[in-house]
Amino acid sequence: MEIDYVRSRFVKHFDGQTGNVYASPGRINLIGEHTDYNGGFVFPGAIDKGIMCEIRPNGTNKVMAYSIDLKDRVEFDIDDEKGPKASWARYLYGIVQEMKKRGVDVKGFNTAFAGDVPLGAGLSSSAALESCYAYALNDLFGENKVSKWDMVLAGQATEHNYCGVNCGIMDQFASVFGMEGKLMRLDCRSREFEYFPFDPKGYRLVLVDSVVKHELASSAYNDRRKSCENVVAALQKKYPEKTIETLRDADWDMLNAVKDEVSEEDMKRATFVLGEKDRVLAVCDALNAGDYETVGKKMYETHHGLSKEYEVSCEELDYLNDIAREDGVTGSRIMGGGFGGCTINLVKEDLYDHFIADVKKKYAERYGKEPKIYDVVIKDGSRKIC
Ligand code: GLA
Repeated sequence: MEIDYVRSRFVKHFDGQTGNVYASPGRINLIGEHTDYNGGFVFPGAIDKGIMCEIRPNGTNKVMAYSIDLKDRVEFDIDDEKGPKASWARYLYGIVQEMKKRGVDVKGFNTAFAGDVPLGAGLSSSAALESCYAYALNDLFGENKVSKWDMVLAGQATEHNYCGVNCGIMDQFASVFGMEGKLMRLDCRSREFEYFPFDPKGYRLVLVDSVVKHELASSAYNDRRKSCENVVAALQKKYPEKTIETLRDADWDMLNAVKDEVSEEDMKRATFVLGEKDRVLAVCDALNAGDYETVGKKMYETHHGLSKEYEVSCEELDYLNDIAREDGVTGSRIMGGGFGGCTINLVKEDLYDHFIADVKKKYAERYGKEPKIYDVVIKDGSRKIC
């Protein structure tokens, strides 16, 4: 996104002065879905699409914010107890509160922001927004004393405390820590991570957006998380001598041992999580060996699990996955929380043009609209632009 695009609006909607400009990206995730809040591994990377904001302290106690894309303006007092109602402004209000809790003396500011990460497509536009302001507030009011990890946690706490989504840490982590050309393998339990160069020779990663919005998915997402917690509670009861904090601490024998103590639905959810844990490790080995056929196979298995066990797919996403398989695409699966949004596809170079043409045609024939196609470009995380 061009700085001038944001700057011209900022100057026009406030007092003509310029401020500092910051940017934060959305993310992809190669594999490891719904594993973050289960203490497992994820494999995300930051992308070349995100949020950019301009911001300038205004000497008052008020935040005056303008969403360029929505053409909507909101004002709130920093110390207001309830905060604004508009959903986009809740993220901003929440991150202000969470950065204050982490010791940043946030004062009033004017700000305008815009994004080129498609909303509701599973590319974490909300994490990009949180991370962008966490970074900006830390730089402007906090002398950058809040660590990157604390910015990640402030973004996650914003979702939990102000936006009603009990998300894990993957999206905010990817947005803050992203690095050009690298995916990151994160252990969500220990928070250790490794940058992984990702340059699969002869293959391309492409996102196919079903254009089914997943905005109403937050309660279903929270339900999935609850199911995992129910199984953990049953495991803790069965194995009081073991330390079981999340499903990461369970193996297949332990899970089978509580089969009769949990609902069938919760059992299905946990089956997915344990399977996904194994798949991420298999993908790491395969990546180390340059074996992209295995990476792709695991991606299809993940799709199957997300669709049939975790039940976060929808007809349109399943259809996109079927087309990929029929066309001989190496790997394809739902990416992100599910219920709409994109599939991520690992496609051989020489199949790419055919696949894109075919998926557009077949999807449009069935649903009367073309899917959107985004080539994945892995870029840097949160940063100051000027
Ligand atoms: C959403 C959440 C993440 C993660 C994914 C599923 O993107 O924000 O924390 O749980 O879903 O992997």
